[in-house]
Amino acid sequence: MRGSFTYCNPTKLYFGKNALQKLADELGKYGPNVQLIYGGGSIKKNGIYDEVVEVLTSCGKNVFEDGGVMPNPTVDKLREGVAIARENNVDLLLAVGGGSCCDYAKAVSVSVNCDDDPWEKYYIRFEEPDCEIIPVGCVLTMVGTGSEMNGGSVITNHETKQKIGHVFGENVMPKFTVLNPMYTLSVPHYQMVAGIYDIFNHICEQYFSGADDNTTDYLCEGLMKSVIHSSRIANKDPEDYEARSNLMWTATWALNTLLGKGKTTDWMVHMLGQAAGAYTDATHGMTLAAVSLPYYRHLVNSAVDGASGPLGEACIAKFARFAREVWGVPAAGLGGEEFSEEEIAFAGLDAMEGWMKELGLVMNLTDLGVTEDMLEGIADSTPILKGGYKVLTREEVIEILRQSL
Ligand code: NZQ
Ligand code: ZN
Repeated sequence: MRGSFTYCNPTKLYFGKNALQKLADELGKYGPNVQLIYGGGSIKKNGIYDEVVEVLTSCGKNVFEDGGVMPNPTVDKLREGVAIARENNVDLLLAVGGGSCCDYAKAVSVSVNCDDDPWEKYYIRFEEPDCEIIPVGCVLTMVGTGSEMNGGSVITNHETKQKIGHVFGENVMPKFTVLNPMYTLSVPHYQMVAGIYDIFNHICEQYFSGADDNTTDYLCEGLMKSVIHSSRIANKDPEDYEARSNLMWTATWALNTLLGKGKTTDWMVHMLGQAAGAYTDATHGMTLAAVSLPYYRHLVNSAVDGASGPLGEACIAKFARFAREVWGVPAAGLGGEEFSEEEIAFAGLDAMEGWMKELGLVMNLTDLGVTEDMLEGIADSTPILKGGYKVLTREEVIEILRQSL
């Protein structure tokens, strides 16, 4: 490992079937006014809402409801949430839901006492908060994003057709999160597999970068194997507690800042997926599934053609390592003929494709509502990052999007 870094993760986690019992201890640390943030109503159907409200009431809290947080929360909803927090002098923002509720809570937390327009300040100018931040706590009901233990907050602006994530620092990360895998059992299959692919891709985004020997990459391989293993069990039997609990724990570790330490990290799949999401409002994990393989195959092809620059060799080596370590691709065929590194690299991506199809992921942007005439606009909304194995040109972005249709 060659990078230098500071590591600190302040989020306290309570994991397991009885984890909600710890909520009362946490609530005791904050003032009386709690903004209860939740989504479109799933927590009312599955009973989690009642359980949480009971704890809040028994702790004597004044509860201010802030429901209706949509998947891919919008800047308009953010403004609504800020108004609720300001009107009621809120002491704690309690998000009960998936990544959308957690992300939204963080966006509200940095906006309540901010005089500027939050969209412009945090999502366009990427400034850090310089105001008092309202603390956030989470009760997670859907796994995938890692938002429960990171500073990420992704907000969508339908007017400008932009979906942008700001990764805030330690002071914005949730103070605590309740992780009860039982809460995830009612997640619909479509959302469950989208979340599973989101976990997997978070690991990929960090793994596919750099040319050094890095401990993080070994952690990534272990986590990827665990995701593949548990996803296959959960796909057949969504009620399997062990598989769902492993997925919950893996999701948290996939994006709680650990795996990115000492690495440049890529994140181009997320940039492409989020731009497509801004145009379609499609489910986050599905947008990633649709663009991943065209992007990864493009990276390996460019490296083979010598078009990748100095990291080309490292690119082929890393995709071949991924194939061997994660997918068990052998070094030689049955007849004993040795495969080249690039053959192994492509075989790994083929194996990944097989697994993605087995889960029932959406494998193209067309099925998510993207049409050819949107490609230029989506490309304009795709920031081109520099941490991966190749810095894309705008033409390459369009070509990858076209291949994803
Ligand atoms: O809104 P409700 O009714 O709660 O229904 C939700 C929603 O329709 C449903 N759901 C959640 N828990 C459930 C449940 N349904 C039944 N039973 C349960 N227990 O699932 C649907 C999706 O929920 P959502 O929170 O939108 O999903 P997810 O956790 O995937 O979050 C997606 C958002 O997170 C952002 C995405 O861009 C997207 O906006 N991300 C945040 C990241 C971060 N903070 O670091 C990183 C990610 O890459 C991602 O970009
Ligand atoms: Zn993601």
